[in-house]
Amino acid sequence: MTKPLRKAVLPVAGLGTRFLPATKAMAKEMLPVVDKPLIQYAIEEARAAGIDQFCMVTGRGKTALVEHFDIAFELEATLRQRNRVEALEHLKGSQVEPGSMVTVRQQVPLGLGHAIWCARAFIGNDPFAILLPDDLVLSETPCLKQLADAYQETGGNVVAVVEVPREHTNRYGILKTGKDDGRLVEVQGLVEKPAPADAPSNLSIIGRYVLMPEVIGHLAKMERGAGNEVQLTDGMAKLIGTQPFHGLRYEGTRFDCGDKAGFLEAQIAFALARPDLAGAVRGFLQKYV
Ligand code: G1P
Repeated sequence: MTKPLRKAVLPVAGLGTRFLPATKAMAKEMLPVVDKPLIQYAIEEARAAGIDQFCMVTGRGKTALVEHFDIAFELEATLRQRNRVEALEHLKGSQVEPGSMVTVRQQVPLGLGHAIWCARAFIGNDPFAILLPDDLVLSETPCLKQLADAYQETGGNVVAVVEVPREHTNRYGILKTGKDDGRLVEVQGLVEKPAPADAPSNLSIIGRYVLMPEVIGHLAKMERGAGNEVQLTDGMAKLIGTQPFHGLRYEGTRFDCGDKAGFLEAQIAFALARPDLAGAVRGFLQKYV
C-alpha cells in the first residue's frame, strides 16, 4: 500500500529575469496564459491529482501569489450585487480551502534543490509532488494525475519525461535509462544539464515530480552541482537503487513558459483549445502566417 499523495511544493522564488521589464514589480508566475496566471494552472493541476495541501517556496516581491488564492471579499460582494454570475464563476479556481496553503521563503537563490529543502517541514514524512509553474502541459489527463497514477503503480519516485533534441540536453535533467516499456522507464541515473556529448540519453525531466521524502536528507548536505547550485536532480540521483524510480512519458504537450517563444506558443495553443476563443484566434492567425 502506497501512502496517499496529498502534498505539493511549488518553487516560485525565481526572479523572472527573462521576462523583464514585465516582471519588475510582478511575480513571473502571475503572467497569464490566456486569462489565468501560470501559478493557478499549477494549483488546479495538483488538485486534479487529488492534492489538497500546497506549499509555495517564495521570495521577496511575491505577495501577489498569496493574495491570488485568498477570498477577494469586496470584489465578490460587488460582483454578487451586480449579479455578475459568470465573473464569479471565473474566480472559483483561485480559491483554496482555508489553511490548505502555506508559504516558506527561500531567502537565498541557491538552486532548485535548496528551494525544495526549504519546504522540509511541510513535507515531513510524506510523499510529495513538485510542480514548476513555468512548465505548462496541455493534455487530456492532467500531467500530475498521470504521475500520481504511476506512483500508485510503482510505489516510488516518478518524474515526467520527454525526448528532446540532443543539442538541448544541457537545458534539463537527463535520465540514464534502464528497462523501458515505452511508457514507464526505469531510472538508472540522473544528470543535471549535461553537454550533448556527455548526456546518457535524450530523455529529459519536465517540471513535474512525485518524490519520496527521503530526498530531503540528501538535499540537506547542500552539495553544489551544475551551475554551482544545489540541484534537485543530484538529490534525486541518490535515491536510485534504494527506492523505485521511474520516468513517465506523459501524454500531452509541454510548453516552456520560462522562455519567450515557449510562452507565446502556450498562449496560442491554450487559446485554440478554448471553444470561446478558437474561432477568433484561428481567423487572425491566418493573417500573420
Ligand atoms: C529545472 C531542473 C531540471 C529540469 C527542468 C524542467 O531546471 O533543474 O532538471 O529538467 O527544471 O523544466 P531549470 O529550468 O530550473 O533550469
